[in-house]
Amino acid sequence: MDRGEFFEVKDLSLAEQGRKNLELAELHMGALMEIRKKFEKERPFEGIKIGMALHVTKETGVLVRTLIAGGADVAITGCNPLSTQDDVAAALAEEGVKVWAYKGETKEDYYRYIGYVIAQKPHITIDDGCDLVSEIHKNYKELIPDIICGCEETTTGIIRLKAMEKDGALKYPMIAVNDNMTKHLVDNYYGTGQSTIDGILRATNILIAGKTFVVCGYGSCGKGVALRARGLGANVVVCEVDNFRALQAVYDGYRVMPIKEAAKIGDIFCTVTGNKHVIRLEHMKLMKNGAVICNSGHFDVEIDIAALKDASSSTRRIRPFMDEYVLDGKKIFVLGEGRLVNLAAAEGHPSEVMSTSFCGQALACEYGVKNRGKLPIKVIQLPKELDDEIAGLQLKAMGIEIDELTDEQIAYLNSWEEGT
Ligand SMILES: NC(=O)c1ccc[n+]([C@@H]2O[C@H](COP(=O)([O-])OP(=O)(O)OC[C@H]3O[C@@H](n4cnc5c(N)ncnc54)[C@H](O)[C@@H]3O)[C@@H](O)[C@H]2O)c1
Repeated sequence: MDRGEFFEVKDLSLAEQGRKNLELAELHMGALMEIRKKFEKERPFEGIKIGMALHVTKETGVLVRTLIAGGADVAITGCNPLSTQDDVAAALAEEGVKVWAYKGETKEDYYRYIGYVIAQKPHITIDDGCDLVSEIHKNYKELIPDIICGCEETTTGIIRLKAMEKDGALKYPMIAVNDNMTKHLVDNYYGTGQSTIDGILRATNILIAGKTFVVCGYGSCGKGVALRARGLGANVVVCEVDNFRALQAVYDGYRVMPIKEAAKIGDIFCTVTGNKHVIRLEHMKLMKNGAVICNSGHFDVEIDIAALKDASSSTRRIRPFMDEYVLDGKKIFVLGEGRLVNLAAAEGHPSEVMSTSFCGQALACEYGVKNRGKLPIKVIQLPKELDDEIAGLQLKAMGIEIDELTDEQIAYLNSWEEGT
C-alpha cells in the first residue's frame, strides 16, 4: 500500500481545525495524559498492532496518540456512520495514523473501512458495538490465532459478545471495558446524560422546561438522561421492562408507565435501551402533533423508523438532524435518523468523560499484552485495582485528594472480634 491508501477522510484541509480540537481535548483528559506519560517511558506496545472501530472524535484521537506513544501501530475506522468528526480524521491522517472514516458513511464504505483495519492484521481489537470482532469471527478467522485480545467499549457490544460466548462462537479473549465501574458511572451515566440533552438541543433548539420527557430504559444511560432532563425542568416519565429498574425510577421520583400510555402525553421521547423497536408505529400513532423522538442507545433500531416512513404521507428534512414525518395528519420529528443523538447531532461525550472511558481502553490493552496467552477465551473484566487506579487518576487530574485508611481502621475492617 502506498501512503495514500492508508487513509480515506473527507477533506485533509480540515486538519488544522482537527489539531486544535485535539489540543483542547488533551487539556481535559488529564487522567489519560498521565497514562500516556507512563506509556512513553515503558513502551508496552512495541511491535503490537491495534485495530480500532471507535467513534472518530477528538477524544478517540487522544487515545490513538496515547497508544502510539506506547509503541503501537494503530489503524482506525468509525463505529457509526454519523459519528466521525471529519477535522479530527484529517488531523490523524496528517499525523500518519491509518484512518478511514468520514461523517455520513455509506454502509458499503463502513464495512470496506472495517475490512481495511482488519487487513492490518491487528493483535488487539478495540470495538464500540462489536462490529469489528463480529467481522473477524465471520470472515477473517485465519487472523484469530495472532490476536491477543479485544476490548469492548459499550453495553450493546458486551451483549453481542456474551451471546457469542454462549454460542461457543467467541474465539479470542474479550475485555469488557464498558463494565468498569468508572466507565459506567462517568460515561454511561454522566456522559450520556449530558450529551444526549446536548444533541436534542442542538438538533431542535427546543425548550426542555415544562415538557413531558419520556425516557425508555432506566439503565446507567437512561438514569443520566432522566436526571438531566429533570434538571432542565422537564416532567420526566420512565418506561421500563425490568421490575427492579422500574421500581428505582419510581423511588427516584419519576412517573413510570408503559410506552403505550407515555406515547399519548410525551413531548420528547428518548430511547436508551440497547433493544429493538422500543418505539413502534402503534406508539407513534398515539403521539401528539409535534412530538420529537430520538435515540441514544447504540444502534438505530430502537425506533421503528422504517414503519413510520411507510405509514407517513410525507417526509422532509427540516434541519440538519431533524426529519419531519406527517403521520395521520400529525407532525412527528425524528432526530439524527434514529442514531445516537449525542454523536449525530452533537459531539458525543465531553473530553473529560471520555478520558475515564479511554483510561480503561488504554489499561485494558496493556493488561492484555502483559497477560498474552494467559487470558481465558471469555468476556472478562479488568481487575478491580485497575478500575480503582482509573478513579484515582481522574481525581488526581481534578486536583482532588481523599483520605487514606489508618492502620487501625484496616485492622478493624479485617477483624470480626470487635462488636457492640
Ligand atoms: N449515547 C451514548 O453515548 C452511549 C453511551 C454508553 C452506552 N450507550 C448505549 O446505550 C444503551 C443502554 O446502555 P446502558 O448501559 O444504560 O444499558 P443497561 O442494560 O444498563 O440499561 C438498559 C435498560 O433498558 C431496559 N429495556 C430493555 N428493553 C426495553 C424496552 N423495550 N422498553 C423499556 N426499557 C427497556 C432494560 O431493562 C435496562 O434497564 C446501549 O445500547 C449502550 O450501548 C450509549
